[in-house]
Amino acid sequence: MKVDGRHFRSIWCESDGWSVGAIDQRRLPHEFIIARLTTCAEAAEAIRAMLVRGAPLIGATAAYGMALAMREDSSDAGIERAYQTLVVTRPTAINLRWALEEMRSVLRPLAPGLRTEAAYALAAGIADGDVGINQSIAQNGLPLTEAIAARKPGEVVNILTHCNAGWLATVDWGTATAPIYLAHDRGIRIHVWVDETRPRNQGASLTAWELGHHGVPHTVIADNTGGHLMQHGLVDMVIVGTDRVAANGDVCNKIGTYLKALAAHDNGVPFYVALPSPTIDFGIVDGSHVPIEQRAGDEVSEMTGRTRDGRIETVRIVPEGSPVANYAFDVTPARLVTGLITERGVLKPDRASLSAAFPERIATAAE
Ligand code: MRU
Repeated sequence: MKVDGRHFRSIWCESDGWSVGAIDQRRLPHEFIIARLTTCAEAAEAIRAMLVRGAPLIGATAAYGMALAMREDSSDAGIERAYQTLVVTRPTAINLRWALEEMRSVLRPLAPGLRTEAAYALAAGIADGDVGINQSIAQNGLPLTEAIAARKPGEVVNILTHCNAGWLATVDWGTATAPIYLAHDRGIRIHVWVDETRPRNQGASLTAWELGHHGVPHTVIADNTGGHLMQHGLVDMVIVGTDRVAANGDVCNKIGTYLKALAAHDNGVPFYVALPSPTIDFGIVDGSHVPIEQRAGDEVSEMTGRTRDGRIETVRIVPEGSPVANYAFDVTPARLVTGLITERGVLKPDRASLSAAFPERIATAAE
């Protein structure tokens, strides 16, 4: 996607051939800063501190983290140390473990002297693969917006999204945003309702920034607004991303997604989830087994933003002494999901459809 006319991905190997560039998402939308990652420890910290975030990008960063680790120590012990360092950085997005297992299974059989080059090639392959998958998600999701546009000729198609499942959360295109960008580029009149997504405001800070740079009309709303909009016919469809889909089609995504699914169900609004296949976890039967990340309380008790005179400041919004809880994700039961938009088509959210579409993933989950 483009930033001020220049094409960017969210992560890349720098022109020196080894260090890794990534957009520092903690600084958006106020500053566009590129971070340079030079060690496995820095890649791990980038994931933990949410310099990078979003399930597919977390996976790609871990892959590059493993490549950086191979420069430091390409022994068997080095592979294992890198795996263990990276896999614990964030618990919920399954793409992290998927990418590390891909890397480890290719690197282990190789002679140590061949592992660094192979790791960079594989990390680049994972990044390129993500872009290809998202382009297919765009193609497969496009007919959904076309059908709505055909039902209301000349009118705007209103799509609500939660959190940031845009190109910043992936390597390019995004998952939930992929069909939105393609529909917009094809001339369909799209308008996106962007949930602000407390506590870290990925919608207000990142999705709005992305959509704005691509010229997609959008409006940022407080998180609790969606239900009201749906009651008044102002949402044609919801599309969200996901951090992990269980074998039965239950969807884990950013906290607050479940409430949007309930509201959508109550109002007859289709609720779609866009995902790449590495986000499917055939190893868990349903969403109750997804580990839900609990993050630091200050993300809830404080807010950071730009003051009117241009300074970036953090302020406290909760009384001193009030306890806070910070659950980062929730699970939306499959029964509330209209369809899963994947690189192999729009699937029913159930075990039979997922396993028919991605049989090779069942085999790896069983290993
Ligand atoms: O905590 P985050 O910002 O990493 O959470 C991101 C989300 O919940 C996204 O919606 C999800 O990873 C899908 S990204 C394509």
